[in-house]
Amino acid sequence: MSAFPIVILTGAGISRESGLATFRDADGIWASVRIEDVATPEAFARDPARVHGFYNARRRAIADPAMAPNAAHHALVTLARAWPAPVLVVTQNVDDLHDRAGQPALIHMHGELAKVRCTACGAVHAWTDDLSTDTPCPACGVRGGMRPHIVWFGEMPMAMDDIGAALDACGLFVSIGTSGNVYPAAGFVAEVRGRARTVELNLEPSSGTRLFDEAIHGPATVIVPAFVQRLLDGL
Ligand code: APR
Repeated sequence: MSAFPIVILTGAGISRESGLATFRDADGIWASVRIEDVATPEAFARDPARVHGFYNARRRAIADPAMAPNAAHHALVTLARAWPAPVLVVTQNVDDLHDRAGQPALIHMHGELAKVRCTACGAVHAWTDDLSTDTPCPACGVRGGMRPHIVWFGEMPMAMDDIGAALDACGLFVSIGTSGNVYPAAGFVAEVRGRARTVELNLEPSSGTRLFDEAIHGPATVIVPAFVQRLLDGL
């Protein structure tokens, strides 16, 4: 088996069959609430209680014991453990399903629901409770400065240098469960194509599907385990 590093980008589609809503499907999150009202720094400055309410509800949803990693998450862990070269998952998702599945090398480029950040001292804390405008920071004690550790629209995604280095070194780039609408993640395939093999695994063709060498469409819990097995079989 020829060993080359693999970078896997995941989006909300990989968590859909675990029971979490996507963003742009008909029943998606942005069908019932506007990005401008809950997912920008301006929204937080204008109405912090509303933004806290939005993320508190989503943080509670991932704390639901019925919410579990699915076969697609587990297949990526199997791949990372069996593949003879580095496998990095770069997720746009802020849920903790890849973490709970035990993904060895994982970057949350849009932040994490299960963490909060103090804007006064910069400390990041693991957090499963609700957050409010007067929650004190466990590190510095300042009240009123706690925010979700989430990358909002207009903010810089996290770990872009590490992601860029991994994209430069990879021989295979796989995109799973993302509509290809949000940059910089949607631009990764254009960065690597021609230099790495590129494969899209999604329920339906994404916005950038024509940029991929190969596209496999279907539910993640079916097509991701099958694709991982194909890789491990050297096909
Ligand atoms: N299996 C595989 N793919 C699926 C499934 C499934 N069961 N269900 C839905 N999908 C696909 C949809 O067809 C869609 O192309 O997952 C994709 C989800 O797209 P979006 O809802 O746009 O989510 P995503 O691409 O992750 O959004 C990117 O946008 O709102 C921001 O920060 C947010 O990280 C998010 C970013």
